[in-house]
Amino acid sequence: MKPLEGKVVVVTGAGGGIGRDFALAMAAAGAKVLVNDIGTSVKGEGKDAGPAQKVADEIGRNAVANTDSVADWESANRIISSAVEAFGRIDAVINNAGILRDRFFFNMSVEEWRAVIDVHLNGSFYVARAAAPHFKSQQSGCYVHMTSTSGLVGNLGQANYSAAKLGIAGLSKSIALDMAKFNVRSNCISPFAWSRMIGSIPTETEDQKARVEKLKSMQTAKIAPLAVYLASEAAREVTGQIFAVRANEIFLMSQSRPLRSVHRSEGWTPETISSHAMPALQQHFYPLHRSQDVFSWDPL
Ligand SMILES: NC(=O)c1ccc[n+]([C@@H]2O[C@H](COP(=O)([O-])OP(=O)(O)OC[C@H]3O[C@@H](n4cnc5c(N)ncnc54)[C@H](O)[C@@H]3O)[C@@H](O)[C@H]2O)c1
Repeated sequence: MKPLEGKVVVVTGAGGGIGRDFALAMAAAGAKVLVNDIGTSVKGEGKDAGPAQKVADEIGRNAVANTDSVADWESANRIISSAVEAFGRIDAVINNAGILRDRFFFNMSVEEWRAVIDVHLNGSFYVARAAAPHFKSQQSGCYVHMTSTSGLVGNLGQANYSAAKLGIAGLSKSIALDMAKFNVRSNCISPFAWSRMIGSIPTETEDQKARVEKLKSMQTAKIAPLAVYLASEAAREVTGQIFAVRANEIFLMSQSRPLRSVHRSEGWTPETISSHAMPALQQHFYPLHRSQDVFSWDPL
């Protein structure tokens, strides 16, 4: 028996990139797949029903296409109800849809902030929340959300995206806690893959060009096996975790815990914080690292 036989999976943003490979791999693993995608540009401008339909056609009778946006509560509900109408149930939600509106923080407009928060953070909440009553009543279900090292570690010019992606990590952990009693699991994947989204990185200097050339070896299809595994019964003990996948590497990412504490029985003044607390804690400060400083070696 295939690992996802009899299961129904919703993949958002499945018309291209990583999401398309999720949809194909879920179907190959025996699942029926709701292929959702509004068919928009990297910036989230315009709509096209073509990409979702094309992926659904590629899969065949075990897929249906859907072009509702994740970024609105009513339409996110239609994504889930379309899956239930087409296939009679829902077992997994893969929150993958995404856009970018990169800009240095000091120039970022409210519209650029809102558009990215709406698709990534609000969209992940809307789609997950719309599936929750089904998962609760059937006492099973699985969420996989795409986060990013832009949020988990940091990146330049992505305040909107970083905030949304770190927010998604918090959302996933909260879902894992709140829904554990219903046998529902929630995990994050932080992918690295050559897609049109990464293709939008500016390459002006030789150094940037060389870096982007290396990124091309990270295929989108390499992310899918972990998502299929997480959606399967084999992962029944796996919840509340954040994984990263980059070509043939899989990482378990850390989650925030106290590193070191200082204590003075009489309490602190700004002066003793300066003379005692900070010098002690400073040894453990994190540098202003970006994702590429932490993942500094070439993809394997
Ligand atoms: N590619 C990477 O290296 C990388 C790194 C970190 C995180 N991610 C995340 O992985 C996910 C997939 O990214 P990708 O690289 O495949 O990008 P992509 O641009 O190829 O795919 C994103 C898809 O989401 C769709 N989409 C956008 N807004 C939508 C909406 N409102 N409703 C429904 N669909 C919508 C787009 O039409 C597109 O097909 C995203 O969440 C992204 O943030 C990717």
